[in-house]
Amino acid sequence: MNVHVVLVGHIDHGKSTLIGRLLYDSESVKDERVEEIQKLAEEYKRRFEFAYFLDSFEDELKEERTIDTVSLMFKSTKNFYTITDVPGHKEFIKNMLTGASHADVAVLVVSALEGVQEQTRRHLFLVKMLGINQVFVAVNKMDAVAYKREQFETVKKQISEVLRSFTFGTDTIPFIPVSALEGENIYRRGKGMEWYEGLTLIEALDRVNRSEVKKPLRFVVQDLYEVEGEKVVVGRVESGTLRRGDHVIFEPSGTNSEIARLRVFGSELEEAMTGDSIGVVINESGVQRGDVGGTIVNPPLPRQEFLGEAVLLDKKLERGERLELRCGTARVGCEIKEIHERINSETGEVLERYPAEIHEHDAATILFATKPVVVEHFADIPELGRFVLVKNGRSIGAGVVLDV
Ligand code: GTP
Ligand code: MG
Repeated sequence: MNVHVVLVGHIDHGKSTLIGRLLYDSESVKDERVEEIQKLAEEYKRRFEFAYFLDSFEDELKEERTIDTVSLMFKSTKNFYTITDVPGHKEFIKNMLTGASHADVAVLVVSALEGVQEQTRRHLFLVKMLGINQVFVAVNKMDAVAYKREQFETVKKQISEVLRSFTFGTDTIPFIPVSALEGENIYRRGKGMEWYEGLTLIEALDRVNRSEVKKPLRFVVQDLYEVEGEKVVVGRVESGTLRRGDHVIFEPSGTNSEIARLRVFGSELEEAMTGDSIGVVINESGVQRGDVGGTIVNPPLPRQEFLGEAVLLDKKLERGERLELRCGTARVGCEIKEIHERINSETGEVLERYPAEIHEHDAATILFATKPVVVEHFADIPELGRFVLVKNGRSIGAGVVLDV
């Protein structure tokens, strides 16, 4: 199984170090690479630090494509893992809503020295909002508190309270005392922590379950062109399966067409699955970038109103404001029709009902009025259930679709 993990937690609590450790201990990184990095580290006369190790990966990845999230793969004896590290808080919000949001599990990293901090709470709020229900807690830097059980229990209690305030059931959440730096309780059982009898982090991750539900076709149109008299639509299957011969309805343009052929890099396909980027040959005109294709059984529906929950990255957002909404490849005008609730993104607490405006760091449930656009419940089809709000070319907020 392929499991997507996102690491969250306050700055400096050890997320990058933990990823480095997972990669290293899983032996997913070539030995030469490790040696090379170790040598460099010696040169700089610094201790071999895993965060440093990860940074050099970041550079490698950035050459290939522009990314602001670092996703890395490793495998255990049981699963393949894609693990995502998120840098700062604002980047985190954007990333959670554009890349990392289909995470199956979130690992919350909390320093045993510092315990719960502001960003610990904000990140948990987003994890909840994004519907990631499996959360593991890694109480990190246990080496720095001499592996003391009392310190672990104190921090565990603190985190449990926060988790409960976000209505996570804490009974089933594993709390694992770890040292990312020393590699304790990540792959191998922790030295100095004989008092701990629970799972190691990798054992916990290997138990992650995901139910695969059959989902309707959603083919997101990116581009169109004509070649040798054929109409080709380029896009990505974000959900379901697209087969040759299917009759597909594209919305909001309302175009109907049979899929004459499917191609990837010049070769012909019979079908394309979720995650595939393909070109399809159709026989009707009218499809546009921003359209979403689906079949008659469960077609995509263009909406002019929906309820979303968003987090604001800008100073202020007012009722009645007009913005650009980006969802999938669609870019449409929208209006803040009503603000239903203003929410504290550190506690999840509702601060105000039907306010006229919200401020930076606030979360809010908002009724949007938009030009026709296909959006879906985030819980059903995450790729079409998250959106970014843009004002004068700047992203000022991001959110998920709660109801349509
Ligand atoms: P940001 O990306 O800035 O949010 O930080 P981060 O959460 O990725 O933390 P990072 O991995 O960069 O670690 C921050 C500092 O804590 C570094 O100096 C690490 O060496 C140190 N650190 C991380 N894990 C441990 C640990 O298990 N024990 C000790 N003693 N220090 C650790
Ligand atoms: Mg980091």
